[in-house]
Amino acid sequence: MSILKILTNPNPVLRRVCQAADEQDVRAGDFQALADDMAETMLTKDGIGLAAPQVGHSVRLIVVNTKDGVLTLINPVITSKSLTKEWDEEGCLSVPNTFGRVKRHKKIRCQFLTVDGKNKRLEARGLLARVIQHEIDHLDGILFIDKAKDIHEAHEL
Ligand code: NI
Repeated sequence: MSILKILTNPNPVLRRVCQAADEQDVRAGDFQALADDMAETMLTKDGIGLAAPQVGHSVRLIVVNTKDGVLTLINPVITSKSLTKEWDEEGCLSVPNTFGRVKRHKKIRCQFLTVDGKNKRLEARGLLARVIQHEIDHLDGILFIDKAKDIHEAHEL
């Protein structure tokens, strides 16, 4: 496994709409190495989520850090979302030293392929729901600063 270089705004790769991963390629294990490297990179950088375009791959793959370990979601699609939204502070490894408040659906359901090609569904709320929405935005070339209010830099303590 290796630590990948994280692209930062305004790198144009971050603005591309990513292509879906081919299901047969997924089942053949083609995305295992990328997912492993992204997980290691995310954990090393203290991120709670990372999307493939952030490491230069325009493919619909994200990793998220959950209490049960790192989850890889390939071709994730949000299938339903709560009417209730909530504001909370977000940051992003691709937009260093910058934070802002973003409104997200409080609860979502999504479907995705696992890294070995199985179809799965997931219901998420709170922080996990927020992270998944943030990472799926990356797959569509959207950064949190496009949606955030009260954007500010981190303050030195
Ligand atoms: Ni991000």
